[in-house]
Amino acid sequence: MRNTVLSAKSLRLTFGAITAVEDISLQVKTGQICALIGPNGAGKSSFLNCLSGFYSPSSGTVEFEGEDITGLTPFRRAEMGMARTFQGNQTYQSMTVRENILSGFHSQMRSGLLGGLLYWGGVQQENAHFINLAEEIIEFLELEPLRNTLVGELGYGLRKRIDLGRALGLNPKILIMDEPMAGMNTEEKGDLARFILDIRDARNIPIILVEHDMEVVMDISDEVTVIDWGKVISSGPPDKVRSDPKVISAYLGGGVV
Ligand SMILES: Nc1ncnc2c1ncn2[C@@H]1O[C@H](COP(=O)(O)OP(=O)(O)OP(=O)(O)O)[C@@H](O)[C@H]1O
Ligand SMILES: [Mg+2]
Repeated sequence: MRNTVLSAKSLRLTFGAITAVEDISLQVKTGQICALIGPNGAGKSSFLNCLSGFYSPSSGTVEFEGEDITGLTPFRRAEMGMARTFQGNQTYQSMTVRENILSGFHSQMRSGLLGGLLYWGGVQQENAHFINLAEEIIEFLELEPLRNTLVGELGYGLRKRIDLGRALGLNPKILIMDEPMAGMNTEEKGDLARFILDIRDARNIPIILVEHDMEVVMDISDEVTVIDWGKVISSGPPDKVRSDPKVISAYLGGGVV
């Protein structure tokens, strides 16, 4: 039986008069890819920010591995194993691929688990343990020829792959990704989709993925949750959601995804 890793219950989030998240619940189980879809402004990023602690919901709870984490900081959640990639690009342009991936280990270093390593802002005291872990991630993401290349010299698709590598450096128990494929061409999307599937299969890490490309979503997801105006309007396996009249009408009325 699959265990529930993350459970959000009736989350609500307002910005002044705007209700970004009205009532969203979501359960994510071990080894599941859960896609979150919905028209622009539906509340997807706001909901992810409540999961990772960047926003505090006005009501509702978030449980991670059975523990209520609703009041915890983003840093504490990251330490517990919640990794996050953001809309846009979050890599360090003037650092190499390997240095970017090493930066993902930062929370483990600061927590003192493997103390003695100081690495930040270009200052490094190389530590075999973290270097080996970074190398594993570099191989896993097929970045070997680029390990010493400055990230600023790379194209957008590769930078997003490195952002994923940085998130993997957290040794996550769940991975939360906000539109990782936005701005990518078909080949780059295919590559990233393959890595996402590999992360689930080889590492059994559940993934919450906001994505606008319906073809990708329907191809790789185990569960799809559709959000419109801050509420879940449909959820279930891709085939069920795809043919749900409520989903079809939300997309026809709310713009193309
Ligand atoms: N920091 C903020 N302050 C005020 N309003 C916000 C803020 N963040 C989001 N909103 C509003 O909340 C609503 C939901 O926005 P959100 O970014 O969560 O949507 P989304 O589903 O991620 O959209 P997209 O597909 O365009 O990324 C929108 O009306 C947006 O304008
Ligand atoms: Mg968004």
